[in-house]
Amino acid sequence: MRATPELNRDAIMVQFVGVENAIKLISSIGVEPFLTGLADYIDEDFRRWEQFEKSPRIASHSRDGVIELMPASDGVTYSFKYVNGHPQNPLDGRQTVTAFGVLANVATGYPDFVSEMTLMTALRTAATSAVAARYLARPDAKVMAIIGQGAQSEFQALAFKAILGITRLQVFDIDPAASEKFARNMAGYDLEITVADSAQSAVIGADIVTTITADKKRSVILSDNMVGSGMHINAVGGDCPGKTELHADILKRGKVFVELPEQTRIEGEIQQMPEDFPVTELWRVITGLDMGRTGSSDITIFDSVGFATEDFSVLRYLRDKVQETEHFIDLDLLAEPTDPRDLFGLIGARQQHPDRLSA
Ligand SMILES: NC(=O)c1ccc[n+]([C@@H]2O[C@H](COP(=O)([O-])OP(=O)(O)OC[C@H]3O[C@@H](n4cnc5c(N)ncnc54)[C@H](O)[C@@H]3O)[C@@H](O)[C@H]2O)c1
Repeated sequence: MRATPELNRDAIMVQFVGVENAIKLISSIGVEPFLTGLADYIDEDFRRWEQFEKSPRIASHSRDGVIELMPASDGVTYSFKYVNGHPQNPLDGRQTVTAFGVLANVATGYPDFVSEMTLMTALRTAATSAVAARYLARPDAKVMAIIGQGAQSEFQALAFKAILGITRLQVFDIDPAASEKFARNMAGYDLEITVADSAQSAVIGADIVTTITADKKRSVILSDNMVGSGMHINAVGGDCPGKTELHADILKRGKVFVELPEQTRIEGEIQQMPEDFPVTELWRVITGLDMGRTGSSDITIFDSVGFATEDFSVLRYLRDKVQETEHFIDLDLLAEPTDPRDLFGLIGARQQHPDRLSA
């Protein structure tokens, strides 16, 4: 008699880190140590840039925002992230950016790890910014201006403190409530914080300027006269076609560093420039193939748009970290019968023995 097909329960469970478990994990490690450890993974993956299969993300634009898929593979592990960007969402009490991501085994094609990535995107974006600044900012940088105190801003502040040793922040947002929220959240983190009344006054005396505003248009958050010699600009908010933060003259004066040029030319600050505008790839600076800053008066610009290998890095880091804890659940994501060809048998078995699969 033919055996009744069963679910191969051990083989099919996929680890899942949801928002609550992500919060528990980050809290147990501490935000700053989490960012520092993550920066090492990001740095490590930039160093093996050439091993990755890379492509610009696939973007679906609509009137109010964008939904994107971001894949990467190192030949052993494949990852992708689903992420949106909807600058008007906060007006309805929603996040501008939300995301989730997956790691899969290239050999079998099976997904084996799934995570929330709204928090992870904020963490990986901040850690990537700080990694870039470690190679591009002046080594004695202590003061950072942050323009935009939305969801990403505190993560940026703590990454620059933990990874670069920034001690003072000068912040500005067009919405004073956002700056108040920022100052409240950062109290107790041993950072000296000044809330400025304009972007212009926030950048005075800053060694590093982070722009992290959200607006689906060509904005001028920084104009050329606001940028002094020796400054490092971490331009994070301009990450979509038609969405920029820097005046084009700044790009002409400084040296521009990018993640994947094909993606940044579409989405970054350099979308304002001709297609052959010279840029340096960050991985080449990290590996020593190209020069970053050449002197204390250089203006360096990290034209950050966020790249899929950074999501790969944070998923890899999270998966490693979570193994030492109970901060995940098993997800019943894959239908795998004991006989791989008998997928239908799973349904047939349920009809004949309704109790079998719910046991
Ligand atoms: N490069 C990357 O890897 C990456 C990753 C994540 C998010 N982002 C981008 O970063 C931006 C910020 O994301 P968020 O989640 O913090 O958004 P958010 O909507 O939570 O916050 C944006 C903040 O910018 C402020 N703002 C808008 N215009 C301003 C202006 N002219 N001057 C000063 N402040 C201004 C708003 O008042 C708000 O507080 C978004 O554009 C997002 O797409 C980029």
